[in-house]
Amino acid sequence: MPASGEKDPSQTVPSRRQVLLGGAALGTAAFAAAGTLSGLAPAARAAAAQGAGVSLRGEVFTLGVASGEPDHHSVVLWTRLATDPLAEDGLGGLGRRAVTVQWELAEDERFRHVVRRGHETTDAEAGYAVHAEVAGLAPGREYFYRFRCGRFLSPTGRTRTAQAPGTLGAAMTMAFASCSQYEHGYFTAYRHLAEDEPDLVLHLGDYIYEYKPDTYVSPDGNVRDHRGPETETLANYRQRYAQYRSDADLQAAHAVAPWLVVPDDHEVDNNWAGDIHEKPHIPQPDFLRRRANAFRAYYENMPLRRRNRPQGSHIQLYRTVSWGSLVNFHMLDTRQYRDDQACGDGWKICEDAVDPARSLTGDDQEQWLLEQFRRSRARWDLLGQQVFFASRVSASGSTSMDAWDGYRGSRERISDGWVEAGVRNPVVLTGDVHTHWANELKADYANPDSPVIGTELVTSSITSGGNGADSDPAEHPDLRRNPHIRFRNNQRGYVRTHISRDELRADFRVVEYVTRPGAPVRTRASFVIADRHPGLSEVTPR
Ligand SMILES: [Fe+2]
Repeated sequence: MPASGEKDPSQTVPSRRQVLLGGAALGTAAFAAAGTLSGLAPAARAAAAQGAGVSLRGEVFTLGVASGEPDHHSVVLWTRLATDPLAEDGLGGLGRRAVTVQWELAEDERFRHVVRRGHETTDAEAGYAVHAEVAGLAPGREYFYRFRCGRFLSPTGRTRTAQAPGTLGAAMTMAFASCSQYEHGYFTAYRHLAEDEPDLVLHLGDYIYEYKPDTYVSPDGNVRDHRGPETETLANYRQRYAQYRSDADLQAAHAVAPWLVVPDDHEVDNNWAGDIHEKPHIPQPDFLRRRANAFRAYYENMPLRRRNRPQGSHIQLYRTVSWGSLVNFHMLDTRQYRDDQACGDGWKICEDAVDPARSLTGDDQEQWLLEQFRRSRARWDLLGQQVFFASRVSASGSTSMDAWDGYRGSRERISDGWVEAGVRNPVVLTGDVHTHWANELKADYANPDSPVIGTELVTSSITSGGNGADSDPAEHPDLRRNPHIRFRNNQRGYVRTHISRDELRADFRVVEYVTRPGAPVRTRASFVIADRHPGLSEVTPR
């Protein structure tokens, strides 16, 4: 649980909550006192001294700090420098100089026990992003980190390593989120997510939106404006990420825990598929160049490992991150390798959707995932992915061609795969649809007696779609038509999960509004998935 949020005037450094949620400004003395420079090899010391000597006008850590991709002995630390985050050239006011940034990682939030330190040089080519992969850490423990550049010291972030391989370890808390449209509202839900102090955060896509100002308007009206045109160039994407990353609530969510991220469509272009963009009837011969720009900026702005650095218009993102033998997080990419949406996309009654030759994941990713299922010894196998997995039939009988319903052969091969491999507890995690849902996954959705073979938890958006409204889920026609769907809510929020060896509890967190800052949060519903019992039991909300 958090340290006290109250100020103790005798403390020379802020409490953890102040540090993580308040973006505290520490003096540089503490960093220097920790022996930053003296801990470096001579060559590195010279380089760091050079970086420290660069005089930057204005605060450089305006985009906050982040960490990600934890395994049992290492984690990625991230920051990106900007003195003028909204600069149109996407370079954050830093021009073209190279800058060295020092980092340190400690066992305690006061940095009395620094266990690793180092430095990275960044420049315009790297978008002034810093990715430090820190190894040699102890499994299953909390660490604190910060950066220094010249006379500026970053806010402190908290991170964590995964449990050691083969150990179930303690229960963990994981929160997942998606769809934060900056114009549609304030990122209050990110702030509440941070206050929950999860061990790990999953972001399932639509971290940014590509639109120029006021083209995607919430039913409640837009409350903030995007800066810049629809993102197509590298400078556009870099500027857009910097605008989002300047948000204090988002910064708090990054500073509290390591993240595992996968993009969806809006990090590139609405509903793109493979090398086909949203409006194929409008020639866009440069779509692959746009995709390359989008992926490059995505990599720069996310705490990813170096091996995830894009190669031109391709980025390798599907991967498994294990939390001991408690959880495997299989992070999927359902955009880059998919066949084009059937029947022209949208909601359709479409014969092509059942064509087994069609794929949402591409063959390589599908084979990789099936092999991960066969090799898994984990208590829980979670699929962190983008689009609605369960069948969802509208009143007219149509289904979404952008979701797994539009790629039914793909869905069957993957759910059959986890059944055949004997995966103990498969749970699909989903974003994209801007509403909360809890679904039981079936071998055959058309047959009410078909067994439940897994569970899906769908998070609502952070802001996309505006305030929304509460309603009685049982009244919603989608639930009556689709009896395997157990819960639906149209408010903004995120899902918090508590994962133990015996059960996974999902708390559907909602905020009352997003068009003004400061909305309170509450748990709208909680469900439990018991070990070896796919499906949902509703429990008292926590
Ligand atoms: Fe979205």
